[in-house]
Amino acid sequence: MEASIHQTDPINSATRDAVLAEFQAYFHSSPDYIVRAPGRVNLLGEHVDYNDGIVLPIAIDRSTWLAFRANGSEKSNLLAKDLGRYCSFTLSSLHHKQNNRGNPLPDWALYPGGVCWAADKAGLGCPGMDAVYSSNIPNGSGLSSSASIEMAFVLAWQTLAGWGLQPMQRALLGKKAENLYVGVQSGIMDQFASACGKENSILVLDCRSLEWYAIPLPTGYSYVIANTMKPRRLSSGEYNKRKADCEEAVRLLAEFQPGLTSLRDITLEDFNRFSHKLPERIERRARHVVEEIERTLRAILMLKSREMEAFGKLLNLGHASLRDLYEVSIPELDTMVEIAQGLPGCLGARLTGAGFGGCTINIVEEAYVKEFVRQLTKGYQGATGIFPDITICRSTEGASLE
Ligand code: GLA
Repeated sequence: MEASIHQTDPINSATRDAVLAEFQAYFHSSPDYIVRAPGRVNLLGEHVDYNDGIVLPIAIDRSTWLAFRANGSEKSNLLAKDLGRYCSFTLSSLHHKQNNRGNPLPDWALYPGGVCWAADKAGLGCPGMDAVYSSNIPNGSGLSSSASIEMAFVLAWQTLAGWGLQPMQRALLGKKAENLYVGVQSGIMDQFASACGKENSILVLDCRSLEWYAIPLPTGYSYVIANTMKPRRLSSGEYNKRKADCEEAVRLLAEFQPGLTSLRDITLEDFNRFSHKLPERIERRARHVVEEIERTLRAILMLKSREMEAFGKLLNLGHASLRDLYEVSIPELDTMVEIAQGLPGCLGARLTGAGFGGCTINIVEEAYVKEFVRQLTKGYQGATGIFPDITICRSTEGASLE
């Protein structure tokens, strides 16, 4: 097979058209609205958002598209086009995690259902809607397909009910759905990037203060996403365990540094003084976080001064740390990264997102990108027997009515 470079705009138009056609076929009329909510790729700052750290994501031109209208009832009727599955629920059935017939809510419906549930908890009304949605973000690829579904539904209900929430408030509502309804103890990064994305920009978010700004994406480089085609597995259980390890580290370190409330509060120097007091596994987890926060702070300066070679090296270090200290990589991700790091024009490569499968992010000098994609495809296929999906990403605006 030939190596392919996706032009992603046609992909979004195709998803949009398919959602509109499916709405017409299923509900026998046109929707009143359609929203788009992007996925994200994170350049640096992995597994630090729930440790009050700083993250550097980009909202990408792969999105969930949701067509909808108010139906004048209390019941929402959803069709997940990609799964070919339907579900209806009301607010009261959602409180029991059930559909409107009293059966358990299917896993996929926990995301829209969670948004409705979280909105109700926040005192916001959720009128019944008829909706069809589809996504061109590969599921389980570490590109935040679930956060984009949440952000699409938040914006849809905001449109119908007139809530007037700002993008960051919408992100926080989605996080509440994810943490308390879906049951993954994730941080704010994914929903934030999907809600607040800026075209041609990297977002810089301080996950403690929630202050953020955008840095123009340095030009002359391609930001290449390479999908190992090994979907994430075991993620929510392992993810929650990593978070618990970090909390344990904070509890133990606070004995030596009173007032410490998160791993953001300790410098690398102080961490090195106390780290021998921590149990071995907890020490490795916490070291990743403390060093990754340091790397991110240095990376911001490098991005501002366009020192992309130095920035790329931080990505490489980030991957080694996720692999060896945080232990969220898998052999296919390591193989993909190792091949990429040895190719001409590649400044840095690492896994992106939660890990346990999914994608890598690679920064490649534009002049080399075609050959990079060809060689990475060939090398990865040769080593694993799997044909990867490799995309050059463009950064986009956050979720919007289209
Ligand atoms: C998942 C979570 C995020 C973040 C990343 C790892 O994507 O949803 O909140 O923790 O993993 O950086």
